[in-house]
Amino acid sequence: MLELSNLCVRYGHIRALEGVSLTLKAGEALAVAGMNGAGKSSLVRAICGLVPVREGQVRLDGQAITGRPLHRLEGVALVPEGRVLAPSLSVSETLWLGAGRVSARTLAARRDGVLARFPELAGRLTQRAGTLSGGEATMLALARGLMAAPRILILDEPSLGLSPAATARVFDTLAELRQDGIGVLIVEQNLHLALGFADRFLLLQHGRPVGEGSTAEADRSAGLEELLLGH
Ligand SMILES: Nc1ncnc2c1ncn2[C@@H]1O[C@H](COP(=O)(O)OP(=O)(O)O)[C@@H](O)[C@H]1O
Ligand SMILES: [Mg+2]
Repeated sequence: MLELSNLCVRYGHIRALEGVSLTLKAGEALAVAGMNGAGKSSLVRAICGLVPVREGQVRLDGQAITGRPLHRLEGVALVPEGRVLAPSLSVSETLWLGAGRVSARTLAARRDGVLARFPELAGRLTQRAGTLSGGEATMLALARGLMAAPRILILDEPSLGLSPAATARVFDTLAELRQDGIGVLIVEQNLHLALGFADRFLLLQHGRPVGEGSTAEADRSAGLEELLLGH
C-alpha cells in the first residue's frame, strides 16, 4: 500500500504542494484532479523521488521511501506527463529500459507478458519510439511502466492529445490492471473518464487538498463536477 502524509513540495518560494495525504491499496484506483498548476504533477514527482519533498512522508508497505528515486522504488512505475520516450530507441529497447536490473530470464518473461497485453507493440519491436502514433506511444509508455512489474502504477495525464478511441484503450487496459491487483493513481483532465474509472478522487487547488471522497458520492453530489472543473 502507498501512503502519503502531509506532503509538501516547494520550488523556491512557490508552494506547489501543501499538506497532501492519501492512501492507495492494491487494486484500487485514485483519480487526482485539479486545474493547470494545481500541483498534480508535483504530487506524482514527489512520490517518485523526482522533486525534493520539503515536508511529510511517502510510505510503501509501511516503509518510508520519501525521496527515493524511481529506479530504486521496487513496485512503483510511472507513466510520466507527456510520455517521455527516447525517440531514437526502438520499442524493444524502450521495454528493456523499463525493466531495470533483472535477469535475462525475468526480462524475457516480463516482455512476453507485456507484449501479450499490447499486440500493437508486438509487431513493432524494431520501430523507433519517435515514429509511433500518439496512441501507440502512450501504449509504449504504459508497457515500459509494466516492465517494472509494479504493484502501484502512477499515470500523469495519459490521455492528453489522444483520440477518444486511443483514450478508451488506455482506460480499458487500466481496468484490466486493477483486476490483476495493481493500484492505480491517475492524474486525468478528462473528469468524466477519471470519475467513471476510479474508486476515489482527490481534488487539488493551488497545491492544497480541497476535496476527496468516493467517486460514487461524487456522482450523487450535485455541483461537484463543476467544482472539479473550476466553474
Ligand atoms: N520545476 C519547477 N520550478 C518552478 N516551479 C514549478 C516547477 N514545476 C512546477 N512548478 C509550479 O508549481 C505549481 C504546480 O505545478 P504542477 O505540479 O506542474 O501542476 P499541474 O500538474 O497540476 O498542472 C505551478 O505553479 C507550477 O508553475
Ligand atoms: Mg501536470
